[in-house]
Amino acid sequence: MNEMKDRVTITVKRGAQNEEPHFEVYRVPYREGMSVLDAIMWIRTNIDSSLAVRYSCINANACKECMVMVDGKTQYACTTRLLNRDTTIEPLSNKVLIKDLVTDIVPPKENLHFIVKNIPSNV
Ligand code: FES
Repeated sequence: MNEMKDRVTITVKRGAQNEEPHFEVYRVPYREGMSVLDAIMWIRTNIDSSLAVRYSCINANACKECMVMVDGKTQYACTTRLLNRDTTIEPLSNKVLIKDLVTDIVPPKENLHFIVKNIPSNV
């Protein structure tokens, strides 16, 4: 029963808007079948609760809020299986960064600023 014996290195790109991004390295217990989100949540629970990540449905693949880059590919953190090797997790590169792994994924026309700006004057 050594299912939590192995540890993998998780490198996370961190930072907020208008900050110089940096990478932080964590050693996370590896369990076969765990997701990338499981690893992120383990880091938040056991090492650094300030690591920003967003998720909602977890494994339902419905909310799409957990999208991040895993080893350079866009993935859902909740459904992507963590492999027993070093992994790099970054925020989406084509979205506006909010903090750490959280980006603004709201489509531009659904953004509150856009909606307010485009309210007809006769309303
Ligand atoms: S948490 Fe909803 S798709 Fe991943």
